Amino acid sequence: MSRARLFVYITAIGLGLWMVAAPLASLSVSKPNRKPAKSDKSIAILYTSQVYGQVRSCNCTKFRYGGYGRQATLMQQLSEKNPDLVLVDCGDALGGDTSKQGQLKSSLTTKIMSNIGYNAWVPGEMEIAADLHNLNEQCRELKVPLTCANVFDSTTGKRVCSSHVSFKTANGARVTVIGLLGKNLVANDVLRNTNVKIGDPADLLSKLAPTVRKTTDVLLVAAHMTIADAQAIAKLGIGDVVICSHIEKDLLMPAKDQNEVDAPYSNDQTGVFLKSMTRTNWSVGRLDMKLSQSGKWQAQSNKLLYLDRAYEESPAIVKLFDEYNAEVAAFYIEQRLKMRDELDKKIRARGLDPDEMRERNKRYAGHAACKSCHVAAYDVWKSSRHSTAINTLKKTKQEYDPECVGCHTTGRDQLSGFVNMKETPELANVQCESCHGAGKAHVAKPAAGYGVTGEDNCRSCHTDELDPDFDYEVMWKKIAH
Ligand code: HEC
Ligand code: HEC
Ligand code: HEC
Ligand code: HEC
Repeated sequence: MSRARLFVYITAIGLGLWMVAAPLASLSVSKPNRKPAKSDKSIAILYTSQVYGQVRSCNCTKFRYGGYGRQATLMQQLSEKNPDLVLVDCGDALGGDTSKQGQLKSSLTTKIMSNIGYNAWVPGEMEIAADLHNLNEQCRELKVPLTCANVFDSTTGKRVCSSHVSFKTANGARVTVIGLLGKNLVANDVLRNTNVKIGDPADLLSKLAPTVRKTTDVLLVAAHMTIADAQAIAKLGIGDVVICSHIEKDLLMPAKDQNEVDAPYSNDQTGVFLKSMTRTNWSVGRLDMKLSQSGKWQAQSNKLLYLDRAYEESPAIVKLFDEYNAEVAAFYIEQRLKMRDELDKKIRARGLDPDEMRERNKRYAGHAACKSCHVAAYDVWKSSRHSTAINTLKKTKQEYDPECVGCHTTGRDQLSGFVNMKETPELANVQCESCHGAGKAHVAKPAAGYGVTGEDNCRSCHTDELDPDFDYEVMWKKIAH
């Protein structure tokens, strides 16, 4: 998106293509600083919202879209063709998880936004709950422009982040983003705990706009609020475009084998209005606008670009994922060791041996214990992907991530089941006992009646959400034993 990158693009590709694409602006090739004439100004606004901490697709099925790794690749591809590109997150990038992992993910998100080059990040109620003061510090260090005109420190009365951000696109269009947070989205106790108060969005926008206008070609208002509230803001006719980004679950999927879909927008005297439907980072919105002869910005199209497997993950973002995964692993390993130490101390204080006690309480036998008596079943299982499910996680260094291990291991969250790869590596993978239940007692005293299972159990992992195409008859045949 930088000027330098644009220039490299032009010189590398030669003038021909550029002149076909934008004949009126062709002079800008020899004089890069010349501003294009008013009538051929256009701009592409890329937007995201309500990512809710979905930083990366789990990739469990081809329906698992999204993630910042793919997004970075998309941005790279688009910026090579579009000099007037803007990228804005319109709120709720974070998931509202205030645990240690949530905090690590929040830092990761900030690093990623810096890396991809977001022009603005407008906080939603999730960012308020995550502590906007602290987030603002992190963003300042990494030069991520966090911006919201109507959130104030309740003690000092000062704005927590900048009121607006102004910047130029590679082609010289001057853009300003004003972020606004709806009233009543944040619960009173959260406001109190995080020491912020929320001002009237319409009032603050009206006050801010006249000064900002003087030095801006495009004024984008990111209205993180309900549709009704955002429509009221749009009616003021202050912004060239208003994006509403606090919306209910509202899904618009592309047709089969497509990764783009047209999304609604409106174009009228008060400006362009749309609601962002890019929920959970599955897609990036793309609004293309053109300056009309009458001097008003008009939307040309609005699309959701689905981040499917056509986009490879950017290596730079994968590196950030790897660092995050290492932090997550280190944290959970240490937390567990501490817990175990404390527990062991208590057990010893009662004159018992913790190792012996653990051994006695074991309910899982592990797959090796089944082999000798159920050779045929064992061979089928061994050649299925269930038997290597942990390797899948290792490929992306996520074998310690609690968000992943549940369905790729055996007996997670069950008494004496899988804990983590350091403590219970023998319970990695989807083993016999994932489906048939803990079997140590059966191994000790084999008999019919143990291990009744079926479709319901499959669906505890092959969930509707994750694996919508799961067909028991078909899938059982693949692993029947
Ligand atoms: C020492 C031999 C032995 C071992 C080890 C063993 N089983 Fe069995 N298993 C049997 C016998 C015997 C039966 C009863 C077969 C029958 O009566 O039809 C059985 C039955 C079963 C059944 C079917 C139950 C039914 O009613 O049809 C399942 C499922 C099963 N075993 C799973 C396992 C699993 C999982 C393991 C490892 C955790 C395991 N078995 C270990 C001997 C063994
Ligand atoms: C504990 C969670 C879990 C349960 C229960 C489970 N699966 Fe799976 N299944 C997985 C995971 C994870 C994978 C993907 C493994 C990988 O490649 O990493 C998978 C993969 C598969 C595959 C592809 C295997 C291949 O070799 O192509 C089939 C088929 C399948 N499951 C069928 C079933 C059926 C049928 C059931 C129920 C009888 C079932 N699964 C129960 C987690 C589960
Ligand atoms: C709710 C259960 C569940 C969770 C949680 C889960 N997975 Fe899976 N995963 C599955 C199932 C089921 C499959 C097999 C789907 C199929 O083939 O139909 C699978 C398959 C996969 C595959 C595809 C393997 C292949 O060879 O095609 C990858 C990659 C994967 N999971 C990674 C992850 C990661 C990374 C996470 C954590 C972010 C995760 N999974 C969390 C259930 C889960
Ligand atoms: C993904 C889930 C899953 C896994 C993993 C799995 N099983 Fe099964 N198993 C089933 C289902 C489902 C049935 C069929 C139940 C039915 O039809 O009543 C079954 C049936 C059986 C039976 C009874 C077969 C018969 O002839 O009645 C045995 C024995 C058995 N499994 C042993 C094993 C052993 C041993 C392993 C590990 C090496 C294993 N299973 C792994 C789901 C699983």
